[in-house]
Amino acid sequence: MRIDMVKVNENYQKLPGSYLFSTIARKVNAYSEANPDKKMIRLGIGDVTQPLAPAIIEAMHKAVDEMACAETFHGYAPDLGYEFLRSAIVKNDYLARNCDIAVDEIFVSDGAKSDSGNIQEIFAKNNRIAVCDPVYPVYVDSNVMAGRTGTYDAVSETWSDVIYMPCTMENDFVPEFPRETPDLIYLCLPNNPTGTTITKDALQGWVDYANRCKAVIIYDAAYEAYISEKEVAHSIYECEGARTCAIELKSFSKNAGFTGVRLGYAVVPKDLKCGDVSLNAMWARRHGTKFNGAPYIVQRAGEAVYSEEGKAQLKEQVAYYMRNAAVIKNGLTEAGYTVFGGVNAPYIWLKTPEGMTSWAFFDYLLERANVVGTPGAGFGPSGEGYFRLTAFGAYENTIAALERIRKLGL
Ligand SMILES: Cc1ncc(COP(=O)(O)O)c(C=O)c1O
Repeated sequence: MRIDMVKVNENYQKLPGSYLFSTIARKVNAYSEANPDKKMIRLGIGDVTQPLAPAIIEAMHKAVDEMACAETFHGYAPDLGYEFLRSAIVKNDYLARNCDIAVDEIFVSDGAKSDSGNIQEIFAKNNRIAVCDPVYPVYVDSNVMAGRTGTYDAVSETWSDVIYMPCTMENDFVPEFPRETPDLIYLCLPNNPTGTTITKDALQGWVDYANRCKAVIIYDAAYEAYISEKEVAHSIYECEGARTCAIELKSFSKNAGFTGVRLGYAVVPKDLKCGDVSLNAMWARRHGTKFNGAPYIVQRAGEAVYSEEGKAQLKEQVAYYMRNAAVIKNGLTEAGYTVFGGVNAPYIWLKTPEGMTSWAFFDYLLERANVVGTPGAGFGPSGEGYFRLTAFGAYENTIAALERIRKLGL
């Protein structure tokens, strides 16, 4: 018999509970099974509902046909992405905004979840991370898995070695520079879950701060396509000095409906160094070793996002979701709720009524209105007392959900 067992990564054992959306799915499934006659409206997980735009479908069909022919077949993609896609990204997402980013600073991936979870790997274990609170849970959880977060306090629901930057009604959901100096700063703007964002001037303040304290900003711009206000930057590289302090992560999930297709990219500028070490070279090494490229068909689909037809069709798709956002925001406001977000992001962030906890409100909505949302506490301790609804549903369902919520008369 073996006495010395294989040892697991104990950091995983420190993670409290399951991933937020798995817990929600479990609760919803249990309720649905017990109440098969009820029609649920899901405004919980940030998944899109509209089909891929015609320009994208056309590009995918064409790429599929190419795969059927030996002369045009594609096997392994280049580690860092096909040139055609990387060039389209640079031209449209950066040069068009006067951002100085080159093709060899773009790393094509299978999405921003992987990138935002993996990027911490190239940093030492003893770096201190700072996160907005509440925020997309992947940043903290992936650092927990890496053993970078210290011990968990179940009462405050915080990690001893994580610097939390509370974003609440009191500060208009704008993160403030932390009192302790961080090494890695995760900024998710527009923010998931609060749906709020900051101005370009405020972002410039963060870039200056990071350069001053030699920190690296990991800037998750997954919701960039939803920005509607002029004074909000679409990329951190619109700010002066960002090339020496920021990595930007982008996704094709929310702007182009690729949640089931899978495509994203990271920007790691060559000027970004820790001492003499180039993070661009490190990420290239990591990517080359651990990633075998996004599929050719998917990268061709990504290229179509930047075609004239693609851009026009996706503008309409974003507008469709933002119409939902307006329906939710206005409907809830009229019903007396205190509501945020929904202007530069497809998320509505509301104060739970009557002092309910966010999980109590989740249960209440699930059982009384058969509407699924996301409890704010799942995004960090400062999310307690808030609740997230997404604008990614079908328009008719969004209207119906609002009707049900209003009928509750809370
Ligand atoms: C802030 C943020 N980053 C990344 C992702 C995941 O993006 P992707 O589908 O590209 O993995 C999400 C998904 O909800 C998100 O909210």
